[in-house]
Amino acid sequence: MTVRVCITGSPVSYSRSPLLHGYWLKAYGIDGDYGREEVPPAQAADFYRSLAARGYAGCNVTAPNKEIAFSVLDEADESAAALGSANTLWLEDGRLCGASTDGYGFIANLDATVPGWDGARKLALVLGAGGASRAIVHAMVERGFERIVLANRTLERAEAIAVAFGKTVVPLAFDKAGEVMADADILVNCTSLGMKGAAALTVDLSRLRPEAVVSDIVYVPLLTPLLTEAAARGLRTVDGLGMLLHQGVPGFERWFGVRPEVTPELRELLIADLRAKGQLAA
Ligand code: ATR
Repeated sequence: MTVRVCITGSPVSYSRSPLLHGYWLKAYGIDGDYGREEVPPAQAADFYRSLAARGYAGCNVTAPNKEIAFSVLDEADESAAALGSANTLWLEDGRLCGASTDGYGFIANLDATVPGWDGARKLALVLGAGGASRAIVHAMVERGFERIVLANRTLERAEAIAVAFGKTVVPLAFDKAGEVMADADILVNCTSLGMKGAAALTVDLSRLRPEAVVSDIVYVPLLTPLLTEAAARGLRTVDGLGMLLHQGVPGFERWFGVRPEVTPELRELLIADLRAKGQLAA
């Protein structure tokens, strides 16, 4: 019987998840279907509680429903429990289970593209304190970083994340980020700056050590002004598309029983789609 899964959220039309999971379903010859369901927040709790009745084996959850999805789980894995949000749901003996795989996706992408990136595990500088930042900071705490400096325009949001994850996480005002640049093993942009249509992120990279890695979660454009400058300085860079690809791996394995591979061909497929939709330059 065809195993049915979908991406849910509102708006859901922009999601690349059907393309991603559709590629893997075909590549592995699995009898599965990955669709799209527009689920406004007001209907979200009912929708997730009735997943099985709707014929779904599970689903992904995107904005703005990740916290609502978490609130109706029977069982949350460690990542979802730590973040109070879930992006991957599945059923186990009729129980609704959930995980948050964004942090995993971020780390797995770095492991795959810049092996050894976390050799020192001393200091990470993270810019931005929204939902993506929270997931990434949590994953870096788990990975064993000694200190994660979290710089945000609204200091209270950085402080709230620090309270949640303990004293490894040090909140900082956004305009003070330059002060810790010289000690950072990795710089991660989790703000929306640099995204197509938004202002560029302007931070002074001159003090970063040559071994430092610069990573951006923005993937439209793929080469943000931040990454362009970092590459020009000879630093190792990681764009945001890989995180999107890797965050899908744990869900696919849960639903369809195969741990899928993130391949260059898959990455090219997503890039071609972004280009076709006019989001990336041809
Ligand atoms: P998400 O949940 O998708 O990660 P978000 O909650 O919208 O995104 O967070 C966006 C991040 O970009 C926030 O850290 C935001 O800073 P504030 O918390 O102060 O709003 C940051 N951001 C957006 N525009 C910014 C700007 N012009 N300068 C500095 N930071 C900015």
